[in-house]
Amino acid sequence: MSTATSVPSSQGKTELQQLAADVVEKALQAGAAEAEAVIRELNPGATSLHGHYGEGVQRAQSYEAMVEEMMGSVRAGKRTVAAFYGHPGVFAFPSHESVRRARREGYLALMLPGVSAEDCLFADLGVDPAVNGCQSYEATDFLIHDRIIDTASQLVLWQVGVVGDWTYRGNGYDLRAFPMLLARLQGLYGPWHEVTLYEAPLFPGVSPVITRIALGYLSSDYVNAGTTMYVPPGRAASVNQTIAAAMGIPKGGSMGIAK
Ligand SMILES: C[S@@+](CC[C@H](N)C(=O)[O-])C[C@H]1O[C@@H](n2cnc3c(N)ncnc32)[C@H](O)[C@@H]1O
Repeated sequence: MSTATSVPSSQGKTELQQLAADVVEKALQAGAAEAEAVIRELNPGATSLHGHYGEGVQRAQSYEAMVEEMMGSVRAGKRTVAAFYGHPGVFAFPSHESVRRARREGYLALMLPGVSAEDCLFADLGVDPAVNGCQSYEATDFLIHDRIIDTASQLVLWQVGVVGDWTYRGNGYDLRAFPMLLARLQGLYGPWHEVTLYEAPLFPGVSPVITRIALGYLSSDYVNAGTTMYVPPGRAASVNQTIAAAMGIPKGGSMGIAK
């Protein structure tokens, strides 16, 4: 069994071809018809896992059904590839769980890396996680666990457009929790801090959607299920002069890393 990325690139295509799967399962973003076409070209027998989502159904329940569908194929003795968009191991449960479950049952299972939305964000927004560091949280997790945020560092928030809603919604998520997210961010950074709402292009040749907006003007109207929020640092990082001196870093120096 293998889990691969479904980015419809020549690289993704080669990976799938090399895996020569009997069955290709795919859990694609709704509407990614072009990617579906690429997969069906590789294996006309490919099936979609998307049908396990149900309007208003807990996503965890759908994920379990996806895992069991993949495992059904594996248990039937078929070489099985599941293709997920982005990186299959980034903010994705069925991919990790199917690999874990397959290994537990004695099957050979591996995951191949892909290009995640965050990787695209670094490229399109021209920001580097090395510069001041980068925290990365799922939006609901960020809220319910009161995550301790270093406002001198960068922050990436995933799933801001589904915050607080654990079900699947094809026609818009219940974003009643969005004001709580805003209140927390404004408490940390103030209302005039500018954040970036980012949507990576799904297809080659398409531009990303990038919206820069101050937290005080932001509302749930600006986000959707595919939005990732980038929050730049709100203050300069302090320097432990004793440690810096012990490392021979000159005052105000950065060793070329954290400028
Ligand atoms: C379930 S996660 C899947 C992430 C995916 N495995 C990846 O590697 O990017 C869904 C979240 O990923 C982010 N995401 C997905 N597609 C995106 C896109 N085209 N642009 C920006 N962020 C995206 C959003 O934060 C979205 O709520």
